[in-house]
Amino acid sequence: MTTIGKDISKAKQLLEAGELVGIPTETVYGLAGNALDPKAVSKIFETKNRPSFDPLIVHTGSIEQISDYTTGVLPELEELAKRFWPGPLTLLLPKKAIVPDLVTSGLEQVAVRVPSHPLTRELLLSLDFPLAAPSANPFGYISPTQASHVMDQLEGKISYILDGGSCDIGLESTIVGMEQGEIIIYRLGGVEVSAIKEVVGNVLILPQSSSNPKSPGMLKSHYAPRKPFVLGELEQLVPHYQAKGERFGVLSFQKHFEAVDAADQSVLSESGDFKEAAQHLFAAMRYLDQRDVSLILSEELPEKGLGKAINDRLRRASAK
Ligand code: TXA
Ligand code: MG
Repeated sequence: MTTIGKDISKAKQLLEAGELVGIPTETVYGLAGNALDPKAVSKIFETKNRPSFDPLIVHTGSIEQISDYTTGVLPELEELAKRFWPGPLTLLLPKKAIVPDLVTSGLEQVAVRVPSHPLTRELLLSLDFPLAAPSANPFGYISPTQASHVMDQLEGKISYILDGGSCDIGLESTIVGMEQGEIIIYRLGGVEVSAIKEVVGNVLILPQSSSNPKSPGMLKSHYAPRKPFVLGELEQLVPHYQAKGERFGVLSFQKHFEAVDAADQSVLSESGDFKEAAQHLFAAMRYLDQRDVSLILSEELPEKGLGKAINDRLRRASAK
């Protein structure tokens, strides 16, 4: 049986016994296990149905603990760590042998992050091992941003979900690393590109929708609802599908559509606020996926600030 609660010591006990726990972070909920225990790590892959070539992020309670698992942080990345941790940033760093190969899918670098969510920070600081945690959704589906989302999909597969409310950011962390002296953004996320540039100057953003990705989990189709997800100009898509007599859901940035049942629509932010839109994005995708509609219509946001990371998730949801 799976229960939801706020009991940090219960979560700690389960994790110490090699079990998995759903944990809140400021980005999305994670499916956490002892990162140093290969058995717990393989349970994560099984529970998520995740292919073993897709490595996991290791979470610690403090910046200082990162050096227990990684060797020599480059000065530029250290600047980013100081500026954004705890927070929605993941860094790729050379791993120490103590990190099981299973965690990194055999790669030399490990992805590390210090999350800022207070419950999970307290949990991490109480443990004497770090937590490997991918987003707590079945592989390829929409990431969870509330404890109930984790319950909906992993009920019966894990015994406990730590409830930290709705995620403040609502998008996964920004993944950053270095190659030949150049700072690379592998995944757009909660920390904006402009904020990273302010600290390190120029950066290279890797193509995000590759099907032969450098960051192994960056598959083109991801974060996807089960219903067909059509991205385009809503002003045109709505009348087009209405004329066809189809019942559809609408996921819009700011606007309501009079002609569509209000219960089949989700507006991300009436005022056009990117942060609010990011907070609502995955819950809205889940909501519409559960409506009795045959497809979901949506639109891209302006390509700036967090809009870039939101558009990345929308494009992946529409890729098949
Ligand atoms: O916000 C987040 O990052 C959330 C919360 C729970 O921390 N976690 C998350 O994990 O989004 P996941 O597993 O859903 O996505 C992690 C991404 C994957 O695309 C994976 O391929 C990449 O990070 N990754 C992990 N370790 C890597 C490594 N050693 N080298 C390259 N990419 C790596
Ligand atoms: Mg994920």
